[in-house]
Amino acid sequence: VRLVVNASNASTRQIPETLFGIFFEEINHAGAGGIWAELVSNRGFEAGGPNVPSNISPWSIIGNESTISVSTDRSSCFDRNKVALRMDVLCDSEGINVCPTGGVGIYNPGFWGMNIKQGKAYKVTLFVRSSGKIDVSISLTDSSGLKKLATSSIISSDVSNWTKMEVLLNASETNPNSRLQLTTSKKGVIWFDQVSAMPLETYKGHGFRNDLVQMMADLEPRFIRFPGGCFVEGEWLRNAFRWKETVGPWEQRPGHFGDVWMYWTDDGLGYFEFLQLAEDLGAAPVWVFNNGISHQDEVDTSAISPFVQEALDSIEFARGDPNSTWGSIRASMGHPEPFDLKYVAIGNEDCGKKNYRGNYVKIYHAMKRAYPDIKIISNCDGSSRKLDHPADYYDFHIYTSANQMFSMAHRFDKTSRTGPKAFVSEYAVTGSDAGKGSLLAALAEAAFLIGLEKNSDIVEMASYAPLFVNTNDRRWNPDAIVFNSSHLYGTPSYWMQRFFVGSSGATLLDTTLDANSASSLIASSIIWKNPEDEHNYLRIKIVNFGSNEVSLKISVNHLNAFSIQKSGSSQTVLTSRNLMDENSLNDPMKVIPIKIPLNTAGENMDVVLPSHSLTSLDLFME
Ligand code: AHR
Repeated sequence: VRLVVNASNASTRQIPETLFGIFFEEINHAGAGGIWAELVSNRGFEAGGPNVPSNISPWSIIGNESTISVSTDRSSCFDRNKVALRMDVLCDSEGINVCPTGGVGIYNPGFWGMNIKQGKAYKVTLFVRSSGKIDVSISLTDSSGLKKLATSSIISSDVSNWTKMEVLLNASETNPNSRLQLTTSKKGVIWFDQVSAMPLETYKGHGFRNDLVQMMADLEPRFIRFPGGCFVEGEWLRNAFRWKETVGPWEQRPGHFGDVWMYWTDDGLGYFEFLQLAEDLGAAPVWVFNNGISHQDEVDTSAISPFVQEALDSIEFARGDPNSTWGSIRASMGHPEPFDLKYVAIGNEDCGKKNYRGNYVKIYHAMKRAYPDIKIISNCDGSSRKLDHPADYYDFHIYTSANQMFSMAHRFDKTSRTGPKAFVSEYAVTGSDAGKGSLLAALAEAAFLIGLEKNSDIVEMASYAPLFVNTNDRRWNPDAIVFNSSHLYGTPSYWMQRFFVGSSGATLLDTTLDANSASSLIASSIIWKNPEDEHNYLRIKIVNFGSNEVSLKISVNHLNAFSIQKSGSSQTVLTSRNLMDENSLNDPMKVIPIKIPLNTAGENMDVVLPSHSLTSLDLFME
């Protein structure tokens, strides 16, 4: 099989700077119990709703009926989250009802166990009130509560008003299944609220779990779309993500129940934190906001103005002057400079809804009037038909089988070259071809992305979905990054995306394969500058979707000023013994790219492509 790369200037094109990014959705506990490093789950005791008695789960009680009674009331000092925990300690350190060794109290196992590491520090913050003196021990322990990994105490003679307490715990041991305990042996009544435990070391000091965010950073995403997905819409509007409820001091945020993916979030990871994450990753934020439409209910266009205002306020929050109403809240949170927000999506997958166009058009015009430079993304697919409303981009989602995804490499070949650009914000192979993340799925997706590179004159942005899954709450299959409290791995689809790092902003070259190989091979080539060594590389990517090995004869023409060097060139291959092979927590590196030197590199070279493989040839140019 012959592959010809034509590097003459006349046949090259710049790939958009934004082409490959990531989509982060609060799904599968990707945020709460995921990238957000907060260790306590249900820290404000609000997860059972605003009424009392409430549900304090996963908090549990240490002690029995004769030593402790735990309830909830609405006595919190925080107006937007009134539920507090009341602990009646019935035993004492001496007398007739002596507390058991270690005392009585409550514990929180976090999100299926807290990952506590030896030598690391954890900041526990809590709000406390009592009519008497308190002596509360705060510990990180193993899952039985018997072994303390770190401990400190709060002793106070006057907490008659709600008082904020902070302690720093230094862990003496490692345990990925730890818990936080608040215990006492002193009789009396104590109220607790907003109990938080954060590792001191987080990604760039901004509260994110280092290992998970590093996996995102390694994709060098040019944008991050957030916070959903269906999470933005809600099953019902009352449970949708409403950004104003997620900003300001963390302890004042009400939290909410995400009724699509069915779990409570304390909203420590709120709108501000998403913008901060985008900045920390060097990725353009793509803010998806609710447009008055959920899965089950809709606001009529005649009554949509509060949603229009909410959308405008969100831009003021992100970019407004630090003295403006919403810009001042951002500034008070430690970011007086504006965030670089340039992209917004009006809703998610709402195109077919009754009020979508009406609501969209109102928001669109108001937004363009106030912020003419903002790029607006419509939920309606403009790839096969002209949109009937104005937009800068249209959203395109595709979840399908492997064969279908492979053939989707040509999906945009015939799309009109005028009009709004495509944002493929969700793509993945799903169903039996994907399992929990198979090689087969990754290869088909690679072919699709090669097709997007070739069509990047009209497709400007693309992201895989979903990005994360906590193995303890798998709501969606497959996902790119799989984790629990202490371990993680990338699925083949994650590693496949690493082959496309470097494509955004690169120069696309004309690449042709023999016609008779078209059914199972697809290839593209780019010239890109590797920031690691500041050197130019010609990268040829080829998917062999077939079950036979392929011998490829490659010719690179018209390189002109450059020549390909053997030294410094490499070949990276993603393949495995079986097409359905997956990675797992026990075998996280089963399907990963393998890189070897390419000693045969040159303008004319022979390369063997293994069956079912993705190959990248990185040719060092001088
Ligand atoms: O990525 C998972 C879900 O798929 C998203 O929430 C939604 O936009 C799509 O239906």
